[in-house]
Amino acid sequence: MSPKEILKVENVEKRFGGLKALNKVNLSVYENEILGLVGPNGSGKTTLINVISGIYKPDAGKIYFFGKRIDGIATYKLAHLGINRTFQIPKPFHGLTVRENVEVAALYSGKQCLKSFFKHLKNFKFMEKDYCNIEDDVQTALSIVGLDKFQDKQATQLNTSEQKLLGL
Ligand SMILES: Nc1ncnc2c1ncn2[C@@H]1O[C@H](COP(=O)(O)OP(=O)(O)OP(=O)(O)O)[C@@H](O)[C@H]1O
Ligand SMILES: [Mg+2]
Repeated sequence: MSPKEILKVENVEKRFGGLKALNKVNLSVYENEILGLVGPNGSGKTTLINVISGIYKPDAGKIYFFGKRIDGIATYKLAHLGINRTFQIPKPFHGLTVRENVEVAALYSGKQCLKSFFKHLKNFKFMEKDYCNIEDDVQTALSIVGLDKFQDKQATQLNTSEQKLLGL
């Protein structure tokens, strides 16, 4: 069976005034694949990431995520679909633990549950019904990036490369 195509970029173009930063870019990312993007300074890597993650609308071309057109969709809507980007300088929520940072991301991405995040709320018992079971997903995410052992640490206690992993 051929691998599933997760992301497809088709003939994407992006101009800044008279400068064509992206000229008919094509690529695909398949299930279980990690795709690296390399190129000289100014070749358009960041622009492509910005177009895929919804920060810029492409001037031409199409982008598909699991077969659904996503070019031009707002960043916050893309986050709910499962597309996001990280930035060069990690920006975790410093007042939260490593696990709580992932829980916030899970909540924002549209998952149903955030027990420990809401436990301090007076009406938590009421909310518990609706917000319950993302812990497994959070633990899976933490162990994929190898941060499960640090999950109760404050995010500020992580070094820079660990903070990059937390962003991921
Ligand atoms: N917001 C913008 N407005 C105008 N021009 C831009 C803008 N963003 C990028 N560019 C131009 O588009 C081209 C591609 O830039 P981009 O930042 O995507 O390259 P890059 O491959 O990420 O470079 P680097 O390796 O330096 O990070 C460059 O000529 C850049 O000056
Ligand atoms: Mg760049």
